[in-house]
Amino acid sequence: MDAPLPLDDQARSILAANCRGTYTLPTSGLYPYQWNWDSAFSASGIARFDLDRAWTELETLFSAQWPNGMVPHIVFHQFDESYFPGPDAWGTGHQPPTSGITQPPAAATIARRLLRQDPKAGRHRLAGVFSKILAWHRWFDLYRCEHGAVAASHPWETGRDNAPDWDGPLEAVDVVGIEPFVRRDLQHVDPEMRPTKIDYDRYMALVQFGRDAGWDEDVIRARSPFRVADPTLTFILLRANLDLRVLAVELGRPTDEIDRWIARLRQGAEALWNPDLEAYDSYDLRGQRFAGTLSNASFLCWYAGVDNPGMVARLESLLGEVSYGVPSHPPGSRGFEPRRYWRGPVWAIMNMMIGTGLAGFGHHALASRIRCDTRRLIAGGGFSEYFDPLDGSPAGGGSFSWTAAVWLDWASPSTMEDDHGFAKT
Ligand code: GLC
Repeated sequence: MDAPLPLDDQARSILAANCRGTYTLPTSGLYPYQWNWDSAFSASGIARFDLDRAWTELETLFSAQWPNGMVPHIVFHQFDESYFPGPDAWGTGHQPPTSGITQPPAAATIARRLLRQDPKAGRHRLAGVFSKILAWHRWFDLYRCEHGAVAASHPWETGRDNAPDWDGPLEAVDVVGIEPFVRRDLQHVDPEMRPTKIDYDRYMALVQFGRDAGWDEDVIRARSPFRVADPTLTFILLRANLDLRVLAVELGRPTDEIDRWIARLRQGAEALWNPDLEAYDSYDLRGQRFAGTLSNASFLCWYAGVDNPGMVARLESLLGEVSYGVPSHPPGSRGFEPRRYWRGPVWAIMNMMIGTGLAGFGHHALASRIRCDTRRLIAGGGFSEYFDPLDGSPAGGGSFSWTAAVWLDWASPSTMEDDHGFAKT
């Protein structure tokens, strides 16, 4: 029998197998289209062996940008019936067809990472995407920065689809009268690892709401039953704006507008501090209350340039409760399920953001624990979608692009740097 390929080679093969010419699928079957933040993180791994192709990944994503600046969470380049909800369910009328919502804006941070690898070659590629990223961040500022923090109008926008954060707010979503549908995800993955039926009914009720509203952001802001300010979107956008500012200076563009966004988001991040939980939390803008849930997104503060001694202590104690960090929800908390998606499992991309952020602030012991845990998880369980924090077993889909990318760009022993050299801006 042939010896297995070294993990770096396996990771490259996964990214190559999931490549569809100018964009990369998260994984075939379960997610057969281009996903927004998956694509950005995939580009950071692709850059390790093909920098030109990595820039193309971002360019393809922005080719689907809406005229109002929004960059959709899914781009349906080529119809594939193995996924639901597809283009018809979203009914956005855009070409190429897309979903009607967005996802955490990681592109500016990744563009900076690509530029750093080869400033000379990257300059004209950056010039091509810069205004598009700027327009997307402006869209966030215009339509989504309520109380400074970034509001989601669908749990899928946060990238943490079924996190316990949404349990309370989703109760307000009426599922009476939703159109019948057949889930496709359960044909690919064990139902025990996926969102429940009532969650899915509510997701689809929100898709129907947006479609009936013509995807008009003013109507959605005023009337959507789900409106939650979220640490994932807030910290990632804050970080992306810090990086966008560096890129603006690089291109000799003005920074005043970006400076205003940064100041606003810094306040917004603090508005997510829940004094009862003593941590950053999601805030339900309709019900006017915190979710009361610690999540891996709570620990994205350092990535966004926000240090907080209280969060260091919280992370140390949370890591003491698991064999592999960082769990998406703490064991022992209400709603914890070690293998169900965002209700407990560890996600490699979240670990990379938390780890590089910590390293940037000099919290090296914690950064290194998280990086080593990620390395052990992938070495033991392969390039899975997520992992059980208690026993490290792989869960969800396999052959995942962003898990492979995190390996190549951060977790592999062949990568030397643990903060990407720009964690603190
Ligand atoms: C799931 C994840 C989301 C990701 C998508 C594609 O919906 O929750 O974060 O972007 O899968 O991998």
